[in-house]
Amino acid sequence: MAAPRRTQKQIAERYKGNLGYYNKKHSWRRARHWVSFLAIVGGITGIVLFQMHGHEKFFNAGKISSNHAAFGDNCASCHDKSLMTGGALTVQKFREVVKDRFRNGIAFEPIDQRCETCHQLHAFHQANVVQNRSCSVCHQEHQGPGPMRSVASFNCASCHNNGQTMAASAQKGMQLSPAAFHRHPRPVERVVFELPRPPRGYTQVFSSFWAGHPEFQLDYEKARDPDYDWKEHRDILRFNHQRHFAPDISWVNGRKLDCNFCHKPDAEGRYYQRITFAANCQACHSLQFDAKNPDLKVPHGDVTLARTFLRTLPAQYGDYARLKKGKTRESEVQNFVSQQIRQLREQFRTGEELERAVFFTSDPYKPQRQMGPATRANFAGCAFCHEVKPLANAAPVITKPILVDRWMPQARFDHAKHASVKCDDCHHATQSRETADVLMPAKANCVTCHSPAGKVVAECITCHTYHAPPEAMLADAHNPAIRSLKQMLLGQK
Ligand code: HEC
Ligand code: HEC
Ligand code: HEC
Ligand code: HEC
Ligand code: HEC
Ligand code: HEC
Ligand code: HEC
Ligand code: HEC
Ligand code: HEC
Ligand code: HEC
Repeated sequence: MAAPRRTQKQIAERYKGNLGYYNKKHSWRRARHWVSFLAIVGGITGIVLFQMHGHEKFFNAGKISSNHAAFGDNCASCHDKSLMTGGALTVQKFREVVKDRFRNGIAFEPIDQRCETCHQLHAFHQANVVQNRSCSVCHQEHQGPGPMRSVASFNCASCHNNGQTMAASAQKGMQLSPAAFHRHPRPVERVVFELPRPPRGYTQVFSSFWAGHPEFQLDYEKARDPDYDWKEHRDILRFNHQRHFAPDISWVNGRKLDCNFCHKPDAEGRYYQRITFAANCQACHSLQFDAKNPDLKVPHGDVTLARTFLRTLPAQYGDYARLKKGKTRESEVQNFVSQQIRQLREQFRTGEELERAVFFTSDPYKPQRQMGPATRANFAGCAFCHEVKPLANAAPVITKPILVDRWMPQARFDHAKHASVKCDDCHHATQSRETADVLMPAKANCVTCHSPAGKVVAECITCHTYHAPPEAMLADAHNPAIRSLKQMLLGQK
């Protein structure tokens, strides 16, 4: 043991005559008391004052996004103490919450419930999802004053690239009714080409668009155009793209026939509008039937109307004589009418024969043999383009053509963003002869650009959305759920 520097005796010597030392008031010690006292009282007053007047921003985890800035200061719109603990606070619940918080970080479910007070039905993705993600996993708040960041692909891949999750979803999907999956609501007037859901659903496992993303369903199922009748093996609406780019096709309004003559972009330039006979075919297939009177045409679009027209030909010729030929005297008109009818009789012996020819043969009018293709095209019968079926004692039936508005309802596309790409790079239309061809691009086509190698963004949300409003919501535009959000957007109560 080392020798002490000072002995006990020496220490005692120091306090000799000063034994009341610890009772003396010392300025330092007094100050310590006051500091402790003020700290406690000040703290309590601070807490009380903050409760009464304080601003919650003091504890803020970060700025609220501009999307929610309008009510961002009202923390209670997303954070609700009572919800957090599930009603009244008990010691048991308090312990659970604290324990949970330390283990798993902040609990999202109560916040999700707040999100859903304003954004109804957003959890909806797919009926066979095993466990939905929390809103705040994908939409992150408190990240700064700008708009919320867009949803990252790894949020999607957390399910889509997880073998276990997707296998469980495939399993769950098999127990659900197919109706549960109808998830591409649309206005009734829009025609969407929707293939049936495969037995295992859309549960392939993959990590990115360029690596592993499935081929498009149109492709892997070798889809055929709905304008092809599979039972009868013939076209419902015949159209041969390639034929219409041949050199003998006449120019219209000083222009060679190009894609845009028939395919007109919609107002946004995103998709193409539906083809119509009047706008896109009639210029060349005008439904003339009498070469001598080219302005006289069979009306289009309604079989009964066409039949009535053919059964009232004398009256039609009469009107034609008065309006187009400038014949005013009734005898002149009658003369003209009987002359034309006689001529027509040379080709068709009876009215029924004419009718049959117009409806059921693709080339009913004999003079067309001598005509060039451009003139000949005007003399087409209904069956030139349509599937026409006879009906006993009634006008024949023309199978209604199905002109599809959307081919890939599970993704969204934007033609405007691809204006610099040639149509034919994606749609091989100039080589297509069959209506049955589906002229849609394959995945490889998109990957040339949408991949790290092609240097164009290829996030899941480049081409997909996540939430789909249930059909019932679109069907009923006055649905209160829609209205409340709309009103909120307009800043109304
Ligand atoms: C639009 C909804 C919304 C509003 C408004 C909102 N928050 Fe939050 N807050 C969230 C979400 C979502 C989380 C969890 C997000 C996370 O941690 O990534 C969160 C988390 C927090 C956290 C915990 C952070 C952490 O990392 O543990 C605090 C503290 C917080 N918010 C405080 C506030 C305060 C204070 C206000 C009011 C100024 C407020 N919040 C307003 C949505 C909101
Ligand atoms: C008090 C009602 C309210 C609450 C609660 C609320 N929001 Fe919002 N949210 C709105 C309104 C209103 C807008 C529209 C603002 C705008 O136009 O940017 C909006 C916008 C959004 C947007 C962006 C919309 C867009 O078109 O880009 C997202 C994403 C969003 N909210 C998610 C959430 C999430 C996640 C929560 C829960 C953490 C939440 N919201 C809580 C009212 C609310
Ligand atoms: C797996 C990720 C994911 C989850 C989970 C998620 N969202 Fe979304 N959300 C998205 C994507 C992707 C979009 C579309 C964004 C885009 O198109 O730019 C979106 C859009 C939105 C929008 C704006 C557009 C719209 O459709 O109205 C709101 C509001 C929204 N989500 C709210 C919510 C709410 C509320 C929840 C929770 C119930 C939630 N989201 C859960 C991914 C998600
Ligand atoms: C919680 C898990 C989960 C998350 C997260 C998720 N998905 Fe899905 N998704 C599924 C399941 C399960 C299916 C299969 C549906 C089926 O079998 O019909 C699916 C199917 C799809 C489909 C094809 C089906 C259709 O009809 O459209 C698309 C596209 C899709 N998801 C896109 C996304 C995008 C984009 C994201 C990220 C914003 C995302 N998913 C995030 C579970 C998820
Ligand atoms: C004379 C009019 C006309 C012209 C010119 C024309 N199309 Fe079409 N196109 C049609 C008709 C009619 C259909 C619908 C046919 C059907 O039901 O399949 C169609 C359908 C399409 C479709 C939808 C997919 C499909 O298989 O039905 C695409 C894509 C398309 N055309 C691309 C083009 C491109 C690219 C060009 C230019 C090279 C072009 N079209 C020129 C009349 C035209
Ligand atoms: C610029 C003029 C022009 C336009 C516009 C036009 N066609 Fe044609 N079409 C022709 C010509 C010329 C022929 C060749 C006629 C012949 O050889 O008898 C033809 C041939 C056809 C054929 C027969 C093709 C074959 O393979 O034998 C069909 C069917 C047809 N057109 C349908 C249509 C439809 C449907 C539209 C409107 C979407 C349309 N056409 C628009 C000029 C046109
Ligand atoms: C050159 C090709 C062509 C010829 C010839 C043709 N049509 Fe059409 N028809 C079309 C096209 C293209 C459509 C679809 C676009 C539309 O409805 O305008 C159509 C649509 C129709 C429809 C469905 C209308 C609807 O509302 O859905 C009927 C009915 C019809 N045609 C009757 C006839 C009759 C009757 C004839 C003969 C007198 C005839 N078509 C001759 C091309 C033709
Ligand atoms: C980068 C590839 C690409 C290019 C370039 C492209 N398309 Fe498309 N087109 C698509 C895809 C993908 C669809 C399917 C969209 C859908 O209906 O879901 C489509 C659909 C269509 C349709 C069917 C109706 C519709 O809008 O869905 C027509 C018609 C069409 N394209 C015509 C054209 C014409 C004309 C051009 C040139 C001016 C063109 N496309 C250029 C990829 C392309
Ligand atoms: C460049 C555009 C693009 C990107 C990026 C993209 N997809 Fe797709 N995806 C499509 C198209 C187009 C389809 C076919 C849609 C249809 O047939 O209706 C599709 C189909 C799907 C399907 C259905 C597959 C099936 O089995 O038929 C799923 C699931 C899907 N995508 C999920 C995703 C996910 C998750 C991501 C991100 C990792 C992603 N996609 C990225 C364009 C894209
Ligand atoms: C020649 C290159 C090229 C090809 C091929 C191509 N894209 Fe694109 N795509 C682009 C460019 C460039 C943009 C604009 C990107 C941007 O705005 O940042 C774009 C944008 C898009 C967008 C819009 C994204 C948005 O922000 O709204 C979608 C959806 C899309 N492409 C889908 C497809 C699909 C599906 C295919 C295949 C059928 C395809 N693209 C083929 C170059 C291409």
